[in-house]
Amino acid sequence: MPDRIRLDGRVAVVTGAAGVIGTATMRLLAERGAHIVAVDRSQQHLQTAIADLPAAARALAVAADVTREDEVADYVRVAVDAFGTIDVFHNNAGVEGDIAPITRCSLEAFRRVIDVNVVGVFLGLKHVLPVMLKQNKGSIINTASIAGLIGSPDIAAYSASKHAVIGLTKSAALECTATGVRVNCVCPGLIDSRMLSAIIEGRNPGQAPIPDGKIVERIPARRLGQASEVASVVAFLASDEASYVSGSAYTIDGGRTAG
Ligand SMILES: NC(=O)c1ccc[n+]([C@@H]2O[C@H](COP(=O)([O-])OP(=O)(O)OC[C@H]3O[C@@H](n4cnc5c(N)ncnc54)[C@H](O)[C@@H]3O)[C@@H](O)[C@H]2O)c1
Repeated sequence: MPDRIRLDGRVAVVTGAAGVIGTATMRLLAERGAHIVAVDRSQQHLQTAIADLPAAARALAVAADVTREDEVADYVRVAVDAFGTIDVFHNNAGVEGDIAPITRCSLEAFRRVIDVNVVGVFLGLKHVLPVMLKQNKGSIINTASIAGLIGSPDIAAYSASKHAVIGLTKSAALECTATGVRVNCVCPGLIDSRMLSAIIEGRNPGQAPIPDGKIVERIPARRLGQASEVASVVAFLASDEASYVSGSAYTIDGGRTAG
């Protein structure tokens, strides 16, 4: 009986691969047997991230800006040239943007967040889907957020962008699932990470660090999540274990949005 959670020989492209969640995902997909194409802005950061992968993993680092269509087309081409296809796509790069109320958010800052988090995800779908549609199989996992399910003060652009990622996910699932290509997204909650620290500090400028107890008091699990816990759900959605899952938005938030 084949182990349906394994990804042996599958080709996985991960964007935002030098970040906390992308690195964790890449590692788990590689541990389960996938070949990795790691995409992020800096070649140097990518090399550091892929250096930690299991020794047996075949991995390639491609520097690209996900907001530039030519660079997105390039990372897709490089992946297909190197490995023949793309089976798994973790469309994950994202930025939190400026932390400020709407009245103090510049148009430029708003557009920057939409550009990376929405246009970047759209371009990834636009260029990866034709590869998967040609083979009538594949699994795409976009990274949204619980900020895509509920409002979030001081990060309105971020919240709007993540609502859009869920809309893109569901629309793509309706367009593609009949062909065998599944499209889902993950909605992480408060993950122990640089991004969460930046948001907390941005909301409380110049103040003493907020005690951990205060940060987690509204999370039923009473702790922050770990990037590895996001990676577990991504790897599940990537695998044949999730063969009937498409159009879903999986929360990984310790129960934060259950109420
Ligand atoms: N950390 C959290 O608590 C949390 C919670 C919910 C959702 N998320 C989402 O998870 C994803 C990963 O976040 P993370 O916590 O790993 O953050 P991170 O900042 O560690 O990683 C994000 C990565 O995206 C890359 N990136 C940004 N703009 C890019 C661009 N234009 N082109 C290519 N790469 C670009 C960055 O260089 C970085 O390596 C993001 O989409 C984020 O919104 C994070």
